[in-house]
Amino acid sequence: MSDTTEAGTRTIRMEVARYRPGEDDEPVVQGYDVPLKPDWAVLDGLNHIKDQLDGSLSYRWSCRMGVCGSCGMTVNGEPRLTCGTFLTEYGDGPIRIEPLKGFPVIRDLVVDIDGFLAKLSSVRPWLVREGEEPPLTTEYAQTPEQLEAYKQYSMCINCLLCYSACPVYVLDPDFLGPAAIALAQRYGLDSRDMDDRFDVLNQEDAVWGCTFVGECTRACPKHVDPAEAIQRYKLTAALRSVLPWSRR
Ligand code: SF4
Ligand code: FES
Repeated sequence: MSDTTEAGTRTIRMEVARYRPGEDDEPVVQGYDVPLKPDWAVLDGLNHIKDQLDGSLSYRWSCRMGVCGSCGMTVNGEPRLTCGTFLTEYGDGPIRIEPLKGFPVIRDLVVDIDGFLAKLSSVRPWLVREGEEPPLTTEYAQTPEQLEAYKQYSMCINCLLCYSACPVYVLDPDFLGPAAIALAQRYGLDSRDMDDRFDVLNQEDAVWGCTFVGECTRACPKHVDPAEAIQRYKLTAALRSVLPWSRR
């Protein structure tokens, strides 16, 4: 419900999940009324709470412009970047803010992403060149078409909204998951790279675990299309199994 302060500013109620280790046995919801300004994102509302109402609230953010990927949370049940989601999208409110689903909660809205970082490392997210050791100093020219082959996947900001939206990952935390596979494709489809990452991707908990629900692609704020990356690699893996010398 929106309300109006004595100063005449409309407000909207934000219902924020709080979990303070050592104090709470389980998450509780705390309500705050924040100004309903047309140019305020959900993140501005959280910053208002932190600055003016309750300095103990914990959450992550950095760039405030959809680049760093750190402000992902569950907003009225949907995984969203809070810096790119406006308060006015929710009419009179209330707006429920919770941590990203599928990740252990460290405190309030902060989740543990160590599992994702380990998965990311496992796909070797860098250019692999046989017979060359980093740092690579040779210049390798690419055509616009070669750039286009992987460019979409390079837009990933590791915000993890796709994991939170993925029904497979939420049930099976070992699933390699959408962003790690999309990042593997970002390098695997790069003409300068010499590694097809078959050992990591051709697994039950990797591309073959995906049931192609497509929620990851719908949730992605950067239009990466991880669902397509996964289906493309299934074809690559199937071909590689039949024709061991084929790479892509
Ligand atoms: S694929 Fe999209 S939703 Fe997933 S981490 Fe990357 S940017 Fe975020
Ligand atoms: S604060 Fe960086 S993406 Fe939202």
